[in-house]
Order: sequence, then structure tokens, then C-alpha cells
Amino acid sequence: MIILTADGIKKSYLYSISAQTLIVFTTLLFCLSASDGFAQQKTLSDFARAHGKWIGTAVKSSYTKNPNSVSESYQKIVASEFNIYVSENDFKMSSILKTRPENPFQIKISDLHTAGIDRLTKQASANKISKIRGHTLIWYRQAPEWLNQEAKTWNSQQIHSFAASYITAVLTYCKTKNAGIDDWDVVNEAIDDNASALRSDTWYDGVSDKQEFIDNCFHAARKADSKVRLTYNDYNVELTDGSSKNAYLLKMVAGMKKRRVPLDAVGIQSHFMGPDQNGEGGFTEAHADDFRKTFVALRHLKLYCIVTELDLRLPTDDENKEGNVTQIQLAEQGKQYQLIVSTALSEPNSPYLLLWGFSDHYSWIPSHFKGQGHGLLFDKNNQKKPAYHGIYNALNSLKKR
Ligand code: G3I
Repeated sequence: MIILTADGIKKSYLYSISAQTLIVFTTLLFCLSASDGFAQQKTLSDFARAHGKWIGTAVKSSYTKNPNSVSESYQKIVASEFNIYVSENDFKMSSILKTRPENPFQIKISDLHTAGIDRLTKQASANKISKIRGHTLIWYRQAPEWLNQEAKTWNSQQIHSFAASYITAVLTYCKTKNAGIDDWDVVNEAIDDNASALRSDTWYDGVSDKQEFIDNCFHAARKADSKVRLTYNDYNVELTDGSSKNAYLLKMVAGMKKRRVPLDAVGIQSHFMGPDQNGEGGFTEAHADDFRKTFVALRHLKLYCIVTELDLRLPTDDENKEGNVTQIQLAEQGKQYQLIVSTALSEPNSPYLLLWGFSDHYSWIPSHFKGQGHGLLFDKNNQKKPAYHGIYNALNSLKKR
């Protein structure tokens, strides 16, 4: 601009305009970058990635099955805020093995209903997400009805054969497809709620030794895929307080390691209760100290410890339905989310954290807990809640490793 103008006055005028423009532009940039507004342009996954971690969500199939009917904001949030996905229901046996295979002891890949796996894989690839978590292979719930009935007639060996055959078929399919599923919950929720035994009332009750059955599921998984991270996943195992299943879990996985069962990780689901209407109770600093102990205990066993299904539900003003929560409750929920996420992701054996959904509009909580809800990061209109900002702050202030 200056070179092209021969006139000295015009030149300096032009210079002063461009200098002014530059100053205004620079000041604007500075103000924006110093303000929260600009910083908020970053997403949760930006911060997680910057710290070598992943932050993920459970994805509901109804919003991927038919993208036209999907709320636009839900899709946008899935694509921008998270860098690891898990399917909320589609990878469960009730979906994958909904019809009885011709030979349940020699399941073929063609016996599997893989549409749900393919759908999430495709969505992840479209959103440039390379990490998917598989949930879950062997679970007492969401098993197909034909199995619930037929397994009652099988002997112990047949149940072992069926489980190994199913695990092998699913892992082989995912490996061959190169689906980006690098973690699998091999066995889910096998410990009884009374915390003193392995669960009964399952389709695999007929096995002669439930622990041996669990061990064998892991051996089958390792044989089918030598690279995938193999996880045992459960709830009420996060804290060491007397009411939890923590002690049983630690003893069980220590035994598995001793027997050289190929177990790589423990998933601690973390469905927690948040503060009451006055903002009191919920997940406190004392809980965080206790929570940390679980990560350390598992690290000593050379196991990853992964928060796999975090949510923080709130008691509402109505005992029978979801009801309303207070502003003070939401603010305190944000702080508690921050505490949970920063505690978990500060631990070296905790590479990522998954939320069990992100939008209160689509949460599983109100239908499962009367008078509770509002447990996630976005409200029913997909607007950010203090919970979102709590997680954002936790990720933003993680120490670089
Ligand atoms: O698919 C059927 C549909 O055909 C039918 O019309 C409809 C009628 O109710 O039910 C649909 O199935 C529901 C399914 O979710 C899929 O939407 C089941 O009723 C419902 O019970 C099931 O709930 C799931 C629950 O696991 C089952 O135990 C929740 O969405 C899911 O969030 C929840 O996830 C579990 C994890 O897998 C393991 N850890 C605990 C976590 C929360 O319970």
C-alpha cells in the first residue's frame, strides 16, 4: 500500500489508518482472548487432548439411527465436545444377538446384528473421532430373551462355550472391520449388590464356578484380540466406604492378576448422587480423598482405573417425578463435577473419562430414579449448565504430564 502511493501525505495517512486498524484489531484480540467468551470457544475435547487425555460420552442410538430426526444441537455437541464415544445400548447382547444363532456354541460373524456397531463407527469417523469404547460383552441384563430361557437348560460347559464363542465372534468382527474400538467391557456388574458374592439370577447361573467363568471370558477376549484393553466394569465400587462393593472388587481383581487372567483395566461407573436442594451433601472433598484411594489401589495392581459412566443426579422438589432443582444446587453440582473430574484425570492410570450422556433431555436417570434427575452437563434445551463449566475448568487446569 505504501509503495504504490507516491504522495507523501497520502502515504502517512494510509500508514496511520493501517496502524490504527492494527492497534484496534490487536486490542480486540487481546480482550477476546483474555475474556471468558473467547476461552469458551474451546471445547472439552480440546482441553482433554492438550493434556493427553480423552473425554467421552455415551451416545444414544435413536439420535444416530435417523440423523434427520436428530436434534441439531445434540449432534453438534457430540461432534465437538467429546473425543471418545460409547454406545448407550447398541453394543449390548440384546442388540447384537437378538436372534438365536443356529449353533449358539459356535457363533458365526454372520449371526451377529452389527448395525449398531457400524452406525457408531461411521458417526465417529464422520466426526474424526478415533476412539470408541465397547460396552459390554457379558452382562446379566439386556441379554436376549431366547438366551434367558435356553441357558436354563444348559450345563456349565455349554454356558462357558457360548460365552467364549460370542466374545470371539464380536471381537473378531470389530478387529477385522478395524472399527477403532480399543477398549471392551468384557464382564459387567458381576458383583452382587450385597457386596459379599458374585451375582445370582443371571443367565449364567448354571456355571459351576462363577469366578472361573469370568476368568475364562477374559481369556477368550485376549485370544480373539491381543491388542484391545480388557476391562471389568461395575457400579458402587468407586469409594471404599462400607456400603460399597469396593473391597470385593479389589480382592477379586487382585486374584485375577495373580492367576494371570488378561485383565487390563477396571471401569468404575460413577453414578453419583449430587447435592440436595440447599446445595448440601453429594460428592465432597472427603469423597474425593476416598475416590483417589481406589485409583491408587488399582495402580498398585498394574491396572488402569477408568471412570466409565459418570453422572451426578440431583434430588428434586417432587418425590414422584423428575421435578425441579434450585440454582444453588446446580452451582454446587458444577463444583462437584469439577472435583470428580480433576481427581480422576489427575491419576496416572486414568487415561480418559466417560459421561453417561450429556443432555438432561435424554438422560436415563429420571426413568430409573423417582424424584431425581438433572444429572448431566446440558439442560433440557441443550444449554450449558454449571456442570459443564465445572468439567471445563477441571480439564483446563489439569497438570501437563
Ligand atoms: O429397545 C426397547 C424398545 O424396543 C422398547 O419399545 C422400549 C420400551 O420401554 O424399551 C427399549 O429398551 C430400553 C433400552 O434402554 C433402550 O432404550 C429398556 O426398556 C431400558 O430398560 C434400557 O435402559 C438402559 C439400561 O442400561 C438397561 O439396564 C438405559 O438406556 C441405559 O442407560 C442403561 O445403562 C446402564 C449401563 O449399560 C450399565 N451401567 C448402568 C447404566 C445405567 O443403568
